[in-house]
Amino acid sequence: MPTIAVLAGDGIGPEIIAEAKKVLVALEERFDLDLTLTEALVGGVAYDETGHPLPPATLELCKQSDAILLGAVGGPKYDAIEPADLRPERGALLPLRKHLELFANLRPATLSPALASSSPLRADIVEGGLDVLVVRELTGGLYFGQPKSNDGERAVDTCVYTKPEIVRIARIAFEAARKRGKKLCSVDKANVLETSRLWRTVVHEVAKEYPDVDVSDMLVDNCAMQLVRNPRQFDVIVTENLFGDVLSDEASMLCGSLGMLPSASLGTRQTAFGTFGLYEPCHGSAPDIAGQGIANPLATILSAAMLLRYSLGAEDAALAIESAVASVLDSGLRTADIAVTGETPVGTAEMGDAVVAALESDGESLARD
Ligand code: IPM
Ligand code: MG
Repeated sequence: MPTIAVLAGDGIGPEIIAEAKKVLVALEERFDLDLTLTEALVGGVAYDETGHPLPPATLELCKQSDAILLGAVGGPKYDAIEPADLRPERGALLPLRKHLELFANLRPATLSPALASSSPLRADIVEGGLDVLVVRELTGGLYFGQPKSNDGERAVDTCVYTKPEIVRIARIAFEAARKRGKKLCSVDKANVLETSRLWRTVVHEVAKEYPDVDVSDMLVDNCAMQLVRNPRQFDVIVTENLFGDVLSDEASMLCGSLGMLPSASLGTRQTAFGTFGLYEPCHGSAPDIAGQGIANPLATILSAAMLLRYSLGAEDAALAIESAVASVLDSGLRTADIAVTGETPVGTAEMGDAVVAALESDGESLARD
């Protein structure tokens, strides 16, 4: 029986996680999933309650589970916590990724034709929709390199990448590209950074294992520009931790809203059901709208689909969620972040309910056929 650690976290976390749970529960019977969902504290709420944003009991639960579904962590209330390593982002999210060796972060940015008018890009640029996969290295680079310091006069962050770290993320990206449009763009800053020079050399070494994939390099500033100018030129983008953080937010906005972008963070550990991983929306805890019931739950619901796909080997169930989300969007339902002028937005729970209803009617029509 697969076990899922559910960490709602802060801000809108509990609201969006509640909707993803509804969706998972709605699928259980049809796909014979038999899931055990166990909630645990993470982030600011965990700090308030236990004095640490990643309590040992939460880390232990995560290690014992087959997958983790996470909402979001952090908020202004916690930004000034000292030492900084007890703040939710640095004390919970980054250690979770690092301890669990989740080095491969997959961020699929897709714009369905139904949402084209929510994209800030001109209609002719996004015509036919977008489908870009950002593969972000997640446990190296500036986020984790030592030394790190700040004495008030001088601050230091260190960017380190080793060859094995680059090889393993490159392989993930090439494998992904092989299953999609067979095009991989490796993004770096090789005109300035030594880590990027190594990155580029190693990606091309790995490319020899994938002659069927067309590989190219792009400097990160150019990539930021090209994503807006002509996003349809991209299939899979692979890049280091910080560049991937920035470019994935940019890519998400091209798709209408940060509220639409799911993510999977994977390592190499295999469980009885699939690859162990952590699944979370790419957006943050949005404290400005927390508690209002207006957040878009779709990024979290789509993250649950990724969880089913990668960690539970339940491809059919993942596809069912993705097609339910597509049909809800086709029917015109919009949360505030993706509504355009003239459209009346629905709330978080209504959106979740609509996805569940679409799943159920899809299930019924399949049973009839
Ligand atoms: C993300 C977030 C995190 C990151 C923050 C919250 C630490 O922006 O998952 O993209 O920078 O990785
Ligand atoms: Mg980010």
